[in-house]
Amino acid sequence: MKELLKSIKEKAMQQLAAEDANIEEIRIKYLGKKGELTSVLRGMGQLSAEERPKIGQLANEIRESIEKAIEGKSIQIKQRTLDKALKNEKIDVTMPSNMQTIGHIHPLTVVQRELEEIFIGMGFSIAEGPEVEYDYYNFQALNIPENHPARDTQDTFYITDKILLRSQTSPVQARTMEKQKPPIRIISPGRVYRSDAVDATHSPLFHQLEGLVVDKGITMGDLKGMLELFAKNMFGEGTKMRFRPHHFPFTEPSAEVDVSCFVCGGKGCRLCKGEGWIELLGAGMVHPNVLRICGIDPEIYSGFAFGLGIERIVMTKYGIDDMRLLYENDVRFLSQF
Ligand code: PHE
Repeated sequence: MKELLKSIKEKAMQQLAAEDANIEEIRIKYLGKKGELTSVLRGMGQLSAEERPKIGQLANEIRESIEKAIEGKSIQIKQRTLDKALKNEKIDVTMPSNMQTIGHIHPLTVVQRELEEIFIGMGFSIAEGPEVEYDYYNFQALNIPENHPARDTQDTFYITDKILLRSQTSPVQARTMEKQKPPIRIISPGRVYRSDAVDATHSPLFHQLEGLVVDKGITMGDLKGMLELFAKNMFGEGTKMRFRPHHFPFTEPSAEVDVSCFVCGGKGCRLCKGEGWIELLGAGMVHPNVLRICGIDPEIYSGFAFGLGIERIVMTKYGIDDMRLLYENDVRFLSQF
């Protein structure tokens, strides 16, 4: 019996040593209920009382060593599988990847941020107002009388008699003055709406940036100085500026402001259509009526305001001749910026 047990151990060890040993099979074959070792133990009844414990002990030792060998083999197999996987699944970080196309910032946003940065640098903060606005803030508070052409439904999208889509960013002036005491120094970029047919220079939705400064002793000289600084920052050191008299109901005096063409420097070219000048914005001294309506005493305070079209600056800056391109979201167009 001793011999039989020893030969079982040897066989088991031999099988476990094989490269492709199937440990589950081996376990069943030797240690299972119907396994070889078990059946030997079952025959122990025939042994003498003297031999039984010795054989029993030997059998137990053999069971233990087979179990240990199986465990060792199982660890070895796991390690080998892992090594293989690590080797096969190695990542080559130098391999060229499938290029991911990521979008980038829209030219309108690029310019809006550039404008914001320049004005923030001059001490302005950003104010916001609603796009769905009361007639009161869009017109009445801005000294725009009942019969003014801007109030025509041809120009403005009315939602009800009293509510409309703002046709300019100027209502943010009134909203700001209403809740903030001077000194005031804000800009307000955002969407505005006008009932215009779409063509190369018109869109029912476009963007403006409003500016407002109110304090004691603010003059037209401050407006000119500030705008000049802005224009030089935006279009280059050599930029010149001119003011043309104009009319806005909420500023007095009012002006339209041009900058010298930054392509030809004022000589006249395709961009400025031979004029040497590019129209930039509308501006003026805040009308005393507007200050009064918004609860600011025009005897103590004065201020200036300006409003510019962001599309116009984008188109000039990038030489875009059709405004529709800015809204069509054609990647072939947008990827150029
Ligand atoms: N809101 C005016 C416009 O849309 C521009 C403007 C703003 C003019 C502020 C003067 C002062 O044309």
